[in-house]
Amino acid sequence: MSDPASGEAGTEKDTRTEQDTLTDVQAKILACEDLDGLKAVERQYIGKQGVVARLLASISDYPPEERRDVGKRANVLKQAVQEAVRSRQHALADAQVAAERRGEGFDPSLPPPRPRRGSLHPLTQVTRELEDLFQSMGYRVLDGPEIETDYYNFEALNIHADHPARDSHDTFFCEGDGHLVMRTHTSPVQIRALENLEPPLRVVVPGKVFRHESTDASHDHTFHQMEGLVVDRDISVAHLVGAMKTLLRGIFDRDLEVRLRPGYFPFVEPGFELDARCPFCEEGCRVCKRTRWIELLPCGLVHPNVLRSGGLDPDVWGGFAFGLGLSRLVMLRHGIDDVRHLLGGDVRFLEQF
Ligand code: PHE
Repeated sequence: MSDPASGEAGTEKDTRTEQDTLTDVQAKILACEDLDGLKAVERQYIGKQGVVARLLASISDYPPEERRDVGKRANVLKQAVQEAVRSRQHALADAQVAAERRGEGFDPSLPPPRPRRGSLHPLTQVTRELEDLFQSMGYRVLDGPEIETDYYNFEALNIHADHPARDSHDTFFCEGDGHLVMRTHTSPVQIRALENLEPPLRVVVPGKVFRHESTDASHDHTFHQMEGLVVDRDISVAHLVGAMKTLLRGIFDRDLEVRLRPGYFPFVEPGFELDARCPFCEEGCRVCKRTRWIELLPCGLVHPNVLRSGGLDPDVWGGFAFGLGLSRLVMLRHGIDDVRHLLGGDVRFLEQF
């Protein structure tokens, strides 16, 4: 086709050519069947080296009184091309969507997109393993509400209204008169178990608990515990230690030495912190902070007042209880250095399990 910019700087001839060019380019654009073709035509006319650019560059070849007019025509051409390209783009996109809707362009021989396989959350894995372990020892797995009354979370557990232990529980109070709380531990289910089951009984209670405290690598406002409660006649600390050793064997697959340090919890007496030999080293490591002991769980013999809250006679019945930190256990097992990863919901973290 003729190119006005390459023509002689005559008058009539150029006008005609530009007019031709405009009709011509519009036809060309309409004939484009795909975006690549459209881009090429666009480049040819309004690209850096395109027809319009060359026309403008040659403007000084025109007599001064015509230059203004030539410039105007160049802009008209440019706008017309832009407009035509834009509307053709829309038309092509619409046509493509319509074709896809009709099922065209579907190649049944292509392999399907590979489904992403999910996996169990490491907390769920540990919870299920421990549930199996305890069930094999005759424990029942119980559940309890995450929103508790003050009575179950504190009062019935021998933590009375003015008890200093309440401060350490950093409680989230529900709206209202403060009588409903987000449970700060799984221990309230001890009371529910005592109320609902006949002794002797053995139960474990895995679940979420909540603390109103600022978060850091070792604290989250939401974490997981597994409560354990055994009630029978003549329960002693030896039963507690025996059960904890079995628990350790289940978790770490071998026998680990344990030790008891005194620990204070109003709902047990005596109360302990149970430590286990570090399963990861012989002579001290990062996990055990070079002490060769890892702090495993708080535990103790059930306080007579707790048995009474549950309607049992402490002269007849005794028991032991423990509170295993499931979140901490998962961190130990997988070498996770920040508890906030557990409930952060980042797929890149979760995909590793
Ligand atoms: N409920 C206690 C806590 O979360 C842990 C615990 C459970 C202690 C059972 C002793 C016996 O702090």
